[in-house]
Amino acid sequence: MSHILGIESSCDETAAAVVDASLHVRSNVVASQYDLHAEYGGVVPEIASRAHLERVLPVIRKAIEEAGIGMHEVTAVAAGVRPGLIGSLLVGTSAAKGFAWARMLPFYAVDHVAAHMFAGLLRTDAAVPAACGNAASGVASGYPALGLVVSGGHTSLFRIENPVACALLGRTIDDAVGEAMDKAASMLGLGHPGGPNLERCAQGGDAGALRFATPQLPNMLDFSLSGLKTKLLYEVRGVPQGRGAQATFARTSADLSESRRSDLAASFQKAAIAQVLDRLSRALDAAPADGAARPQSLFVGGGVVSNASLRAALAAWCASHGIALVVPERRFCVDNAAMIAGHAQLRRALGDAGDDLSVPAEPVSLLARGAAPSRRGDGPKRVQ
Ligand code: KG4
Ligand code: ZN
Repeated sequence: MSHILGIESSCDETAAAVVDASLHVRSNVVASQYDLHAEYGGVVPEIASRAHLERVLPVIRKAIEEAGIGMHEVTAVAAGVRPGLIGSLLVGTSAAKGFAWARMLPFYAVDHVAAHMFAGLLRTDAAVPAACGNAASGVASGYPALGLVVSGGHTSLFRIENPVACALLGRTIDDAVGEAMDKAASMLGLGHPGGPNLERCAQGGDAGALRFATPQLPNMLDFSLSGLKTKLLYEVRGVPQGRGAQATFARTSADLSESRRSDLAASFQKAAIAQVLDRLSRALDAAPADGAARPQSLFVGGGVVSNASLRAALAAWCASHGIALVVPERRFCVDNAAMIAGHAQLRRALGDAGDDLSVPAEPVSLLARGAAPSRRGDGPKRVQ
């Protein structure tokens, strides 16, 4: 039986997991560093990498133990090697390489963005996604597909031919959706964690209270969130007098009534979701216009996909367009190592025997490298 040990350390979660060839998650251990960074209002790279160093070995040990297997039953090791904070990535990547080298196991260098996108194929005892039950069917059915990753660091849209051939269709030209939701939450005076707090505050709010325009961009499959943020800022605090650091505002978020705060949160969330759906519809329409086969499924992933309104909107969009939605359980939307091991299993099912130990950790995703391509994308990229 193939048991791949996955290790993830790209940002502020130290995670390890074991996933078998049926894409069954045998263990999924995540050590969050949330408390360490809270007082700084963001992730401090130096603190993050030191914390990864302290936690990575206990987390790996726990993942193997919880999988109910022995160390000798691990058949391959996978690490998220890009994108992310380089000091953080190096810890998980080095630990994975060391494990693989010591036991002479195959090593898979996995792209974090690709891993997010295919996390919907993972299964647990409790929930078996209807779409695919194992790595072999996960690479064989449902393609071509659209892929969408919406997280704190990434907002990208892909055309997928199979789990290792993805062409970038569009991406954010400024903030990622999760990053914008975090900033919107901060503008509204909601504490950390921004995205989940914004979702909570939006409940019961009037999503029509503030209207946002859909950004018009040279590539209409790209995303832009900065205009939404500016509009929200002016709504909350008034139009500023002066510029830059000298700017002064008439109001603060403390002047908002609870119901107005809730209305603004709901409106912002709705606008972000509307932009996602707009881009998906354009990508779907573009396929036949470009002479390409119509996508059969939509693979989604990333932390923002844990948002219930986005999940409902994606499900409704897919149903109305006759497309299968492959969406992860909430715990596999945010950063985790099961998605890393899962993507390695998909590669293995495609006959990929792994990477050389010399593959480096890198801050940028291969999937997002270079200038944003035209609407057609720049051809499928091999995804490790
Ligand atoms: O995938 P992830 O854990 O890390 C990255 O790869 O970036 O995503 C984290 C992002 C954060 O911006 C967080 O606010 C957002 O996902 N997020 C949410 C929700 N839960 C997490 N955004 C909206 N609603 C949520 N429920
Ligand atoms: Zn992530």
